[in-house]
Amino acid sequence: MNILAIETSCDDTCIAIVKTSYKTRPRFEILSNIVSSQVKIHRKYGGVYPTLAKREHQKNLPIVLKRALKEAKKPKIDLLAATIGPGLEPCLWTGVNFAKDLAKKWGLPIIPVNHIEAHILANFISEVRSQKLKVKSLFPAICLVVSGGHTQLILMQEIGKYKILGETRDDAAGECFDKIARILGLGYPGGPLIDRKAAKFRKRDFGKISAIADFLPKLPRPMIYQKNYDFSFSGLKTAVLYDFRSQPEKIRKSKKYIQGMSAEVQQAVIDVLIHKTLRAAKDYKVKTIILGGGVAANEELRKQFKTACPTLGVKHLNFLVPPKNLCTDNAAMVAATAYFHWILGETKSWEEIEVNANLRLK
Ligand code: KG4
Ligand code: ZN
Repeated sequence: MNILAIETSCDDTCIAIVKTSYKTRPRFEILSNIVSSQVKIHRKYGGVYPTLAKREHQKNLPIVLKRALKEAKKPKIDLLAATIGPGLEPCLWTGVNFAKDLAKKWGLPIIPVNHIEAHILANFISEVRSQKLKVKSLFPAICLVVSGGHTQLILMQEIGKYKILGETRDDAAGECFDKIARILGLGYPGGPLIDRKAAKFRKRDFGKISAIADFLPKLPRPMIYQKNYDFSFSGLKTAVLYDFRSQPEKIRKSKKYIQGMSAEVQQAVIDVLIHKTLRAAKDYKVKTIILGGGVAANEELRKQFKTACPTLGVKHLNFLVPPKNLCTDNAAMVAATAYFHWILGETKSWEEIEVNANLRLK
């Protein structure tokens, strides 16, 4: 079965065509996975500007569809899927209305998809298969979804059955990176830029690393030891802002400072994310830890999670994180999610589909 999926919840216009089948475990063959980024347009605002994003989606969708069909060698499409939330309402509607038009034209049903679930199920495209895992053996699992709009710890009992244990009370982890990158004058989106600067800091020998560490503040690890599964990252941004303002211009514009601060910010976020996720994994005696969302593309986060998981002492604890291109927004993850809901019999006719900007997993 070939699924054509549409994702327009934020600033990327995405269409993918995925061939699906099931033999022991689900198999997804990505025939095309087009992501048309609007980064250049939103860069000057330092964040996503919703009405502009909507207009760009409208302009890009027909072009992206043409490319997706051509790259996939124009296969027969059997099912449509579209992200219905959470996300920016005008952007969601643009993608959903585009899917409705295709549904009418091609006489196909649509599967409505939750964006957060899609970030989780992105792991089923290649990870579950490459690690030769049986789907049933994965649960219960703890999922950490870290994106530009969300930071959530989710207990997953099975595919389609979730409970949000905790989430951010203010900024999401990605949003925190984006805002701090702006303070440091790095540009947008901030996550990949901070990732790169931090890597440079680790590689570089500034001669006197300890002297650098001396002039960098030790940033807070907000809520790390609180006995809940919530997060808060806005204090981190404020701490960086105060330190940045207190430094002489020569220092705050120096490579040492920018790279060092990027490394420290990244480590503060990683410490909190890993500590809280591992605690939830222990409390709920899970068999798997699953990462997803744009921030899961962070090199150091991936590396440190892999090292930290065995310290839990749980035998055969699985750790799943998608390849980097499937961490950030894409429509292949939407197609994979639609497949599982198609199995559960959740197809809808186009008239029944509505968006919900605040959609929550349950
Ligand atoms: O999931 P995503 O593509 O879109 C949303 O659903 O929000 O996540 C985007 C977020 C942005 O905040 C971006 O800065 C962050 O993911 N991000 C990263 C990295 N790549 C993207 N954060 C840290 N390190 C990265 N390598
Ligand atoms: Zn996302």
